[in-house]
Amino acid sequence: MSVVVLISGRGSNLQAFFEAGLPVSAVISNVAGAAGLALAAKRGVPAKVVPHKDFPSREAFDAALAQEIDGFSPRLVALAGFMRVLTPGFVHRYRERMLNIHPSLLPAFPGLDTHSRALAEGVKLHGCSVHFVTAELDHGPIVAQAAIPVRREDTAASLAQRVLKQEHVVYPRAVRWFLDGKLVIGDGTVSVKGSDAQLVFDDSP
Ligand code: GRF
Repeated sequence: MSVVVLISGRGSNLQAFFEAGLPVSAVISNVAGAAGLALAAKRGVPAKVVPHKDFPSREAFDAALAQEIDGFSPRLVALAGFMRVLTPGFVHRYRERMLNIHPSLLPAFPGLDTHSRALAEGVKLHGCSVHFVTAELDHGPIVAQAAIPVRREDTAASLAQRVLKQEHVVYPRAVRWFLDGKLVIGDGTVSVKGSDAQLVFDDSP
């Protein structure tokens, strides 16, 4: 029933998992000193580092990472600010049991700098998406999205702040649905058994 969480940095989504009472069995970072590792250690959750720099290729890194993950026999792998592109082999190994959170309303703005790109495009709606991971970067069946209005006075920083708040709402919810066996993937889309709350809209300041 457990989740292994992969991080590279701050770990605020990981913290949201802890606060939601999700069964996190281990946290693995590709960056030594990632702040999220300390959050795990504080809770007595195993916190491991697999530094990508120590490996000669993406394949070698992903093989070492998979070995660490499989040592915990998780039901789900959750990417939470994990800043590495994964090989198709790794993605296939955790097919339909690996989730990611991305700070945009996918399929808009895959990749980096989503908030400044959203401002540059003048979109009026922005947000975040939880999706199953496929071999294509920031792509895959969408489990849940949270949307916020883009205001005239917004900056990349203010958008990041409001979107992150929503990430902490939808990501734990999506993980809980997965663990409860409520997610149904069909034809590239996801539905939730007995629930229609796959969209959150928040227009609070
Ligand atoms: C979040 O914005 C997430 O959407 C993106 O990376 C950031 C990670 O933040 N993939 P944190 O480490 O969970 O605080």
